Amino acid sequence: MCGIFGAISSEDVKKDLIEGLSKLEYRGYDSAGLSLITSASKIKRIRCTGKVKELKKLLLKSKSKGKCGIAHTRWATHGIPNLKNSHPHNSGPFSIVHNGIIENSEELKSSLLKKGYKFTSDTDSEVIAHLLTSCIKKNKDLLGTILSALDKLKGSFALAIIYDKYPDNIIVASNGSPLLIGISKNATYVASDIHALVSKTKKYIPLEDNELAIVSRGNVILYNKKGRKISRPPLVTKQIDKTTSKRGFKHYMQKEIFEQKDIISRVIKDRLGTKTILPNIFGPKSDVMLKSIKHVHFVACGTSYNASLIAKYWIEELSDIMCTAEIASEYRYRTINIPSDTLFVAISQSGETADTIYSLKKAKTSNYKAILSICNVPESTITRLSDYSYLMQAGVEISVASTKAFTSQLIALLLLSTILSRSSGKYSIEAEIVKQINSLPKILDKTFKLENDMKTMAKQFKNKHHTLFLGRGASYPIALEAALKLKEISYIHAEGYAAGELKHGPLALVDKDMPVVGLMPDNNLVNQVLSNLSEVKARHGLVYIFTNKKMKLKRNDKTKIIKMPACGHYIAPLVYVIPMQLLSYHVAIFKKTNIDQPRNLAKSVTVE
Ligand code: G6P
Repeated sequence: MCGIFGAISSEDVKKDLIEGLSKLEYRGYDSAGLSLITSASKIKRIRCTGKVKELKKLLLKSKSKGKCGIAHTRWATHGIPNLKNSHPHNSGPFSIVHNGIIENSEELKSSLLKKGYKFTSDTDSEVIAHLLTSCIKKNKDLLGTILSALDKLKGSFALAIIYDKYPDNIIVASNGSPLLIGISKNATYVASDIHALVSKTKKYIPLEDNELAIVSRGNVILYNKKGRKISRPPLVTKQIDKTTSKRGFKHYMQKEIFEQKDIISRVIKDRLGTKTILPNIFGPKSDVMLKSIKHVHFVACGTSYNASLIAKYWIEELSDIMCTAEIASEYRYRTINIPSDTLFVAISQSGETADTIYSLKKAKTSNYKAILSICNVPESTITRLSDYSYLMQAGVEISVASTKAFTSQLIALLLLSTILSRSSGKYSIEAEIVKQINSLPKILDKTFKLENDMKTMAKQFKNKHHTLFLGRGASYPIALEAALKLKEISYIHAEGYAAGELKHGPLALVDKDMPVVGLMPDNNLVNQVLSNLSEVKARHGLVYIFTNKKMKLKRNDKTKIIKMPACGHYIAPLVYVIPMQLLSYHVAIFKKTNIDQPRNLAKSVTVE
């Protein structure tokens, strides 16, 4: 993962580097650092463990200035988060920042050690710095040095390099990790994503795999891996600077949970007619393409994967289409059979998740009818690579634990399932689904009123070590998502299970200290879920049932019932996930964890 930002300007770039880095902190926040080339053509490096705000404090104390610099915010892959493993890494005249993984770093390291290079960190990245120093001794020119160093690297990388003999240049290279070059009149920037560039410039060039560039103020020279110059006009981003504030909420996660109603209202306004879905919401001529689809393969990671599991239930219920949902890190390496007329769908909030990108690239060279992506970030890698794309319009999601992106994905997927049902549909359901989606904002208003109940429940959860979430049908992926949210931000071990699987293993864990949450919208699976929960009660487990079904408890039954608002069958997952998000949030409040930036995690996972 990690975020890279660099700048060359006619002024001191320290402020630019900090601003850029702050916008990339979602990619990792284990440590931060920067290197500047000073007016004496010396490299000055400043690093710290922890967050960009700590680096900012160090810079305020430092007198160093530079018009050319590179900066990094780290998510540790090789080597624990500490000062010596923080980037930049220096060797001789070079300072480098790296995002990605160098797979042959051990091999390179042992050969460099034999040559007398001293390693000061446990990272895979430091080999790049020493490799450059070793190559510059053999090569006369900078380009030759960079090319021969890159040629030795195996793995994925986005790199920004400064060289004290060329104080007006940043050298960048990319293979499998994103890097963009932003060009303005008085300065040139490099960054891991467009979000970090838009406040500086709209003009940018995304580096493609196996490309490098020598960047100077106002100028970019692109090369392929053979050292031949490439010419490509810059793109112009339509994005605006979306610096977000917490708008009075205590955390971004809380703000994002409460934004969900407005996002759904916007989708209703922009994508729905009175009884039907508006034409081609998945891109120009997408309705015609979707008519011919016989199979769907969803690929995603994390919360986005949980969303795809729900779509599988919807699609197979609404049409004759066969559907699979798969974790991207599995899909990318296995043999896939692709029947004719299969649609590949990548789901990603960020549009930059490495495993999803690799899966999409694999899909592009396979025999799919079309590649569709559902993303929240316009102009992201996944969007750029897709034939058709749907933008979730959820607004920037800052909290690492995804909430509003999940419900926005669900809406998109419910719309996709409905459109797919048109040609192969077992019955015409579009008007009913549109009606149910229209009812969501009012139902969510009622659902948010459960917040106090969730606070009470969170108090009962805060000292627990394990929790189970159970559901059947489309509530099963909601159980998975509920467990994911709780473990992500409260560090309580939580598992989501298909309720029917309880007796095949997890029941062994149940005792009087184990809270078990049953998600039970009023549908044809209620009796089955109730039987599974009785199995928990018989083992003295603490049972919490979320349901909109009227239920009476027997005397002495310690089961807690959380009364959910009534809602239509198709929208139930969107309603039932809300109290799960609030529950995790409030448990984390009690546990005083870092809610928006939980330990060890990052928002955008750009390594495999
Ligand atoms: C990380 C984030 C999750 C997210 C997952 C997939 O793990 O912390 O919130 O669900 O990546 O990310 P994507 O951007 O592809 O949806």
